[in-house]
Amino acid sequence: MSHRNIILIGPMGSGKSTIGNIIARRLHREFQDSDQFIEKRTGVDIARIFDIEGEQGFRDRESNALIELLSQDNRVIATGGGSVLRKENQKLLKQRGYIIFLDTSVNQQMSRLARDKKRPLLQTENPRERLETLLQERRPIYLDLADLAVKTDKRAARRLAADIINQLPDNLT
Ligand code: S3P
Repeated sequence: MSHRNIILIGPMGSGKSTIGNIIARRLHREFQDSDQFIEKRTGVDIARIFDIEGEQGFRDRESNALIELLSQDNRVIATGGGSVLRKENQKLLKQRGYIIFLDTSVNQQMSRLARDKKRPLLQTENPRERLETLLQERRPIYLDLADLAVKTDKRAARRLAADIINQLPDNLT
């Protein structure tokens, strides 16, 4: 199985984009972020896509983005928190990359996302409750898909990225 891409999975606010960016720079690889890719493609932000097309419409775009992003090798890819939900995406991620799960607590997510206005799933009365529910549903999937799981709490991004790089299989560094 080819593991030429490095794929970051995990919930909103786990640091996928930040950590992915650092890893890509250190390994001289191209970095791609699935949400940014979708926004560039459509010319509107994720919240607007949810407004117009609903979550299903967004998930279709997300699946297509993953296919496109993973059609190349040697990339570092930050996925959206819900990209692991569809079986077809799970299969593709597994086939096309080495998967790193950023395992984050709801407290840390809250400290990063408390005032977030960009994430449609958090525009609710009780964002903490929403994050807890999503994590309960998705954490088993993240764990199941992961080649490497790392706890992110109270750890500086640079240190965490360096730790991850140290744990990567030789053929990826
Ligand atoms: C989502 C996570 C977001 C974005 C969308 C839905 C989710 O990405 O794709 O708002 O379902 O968890 P991040 O994980 O980058 O915040």
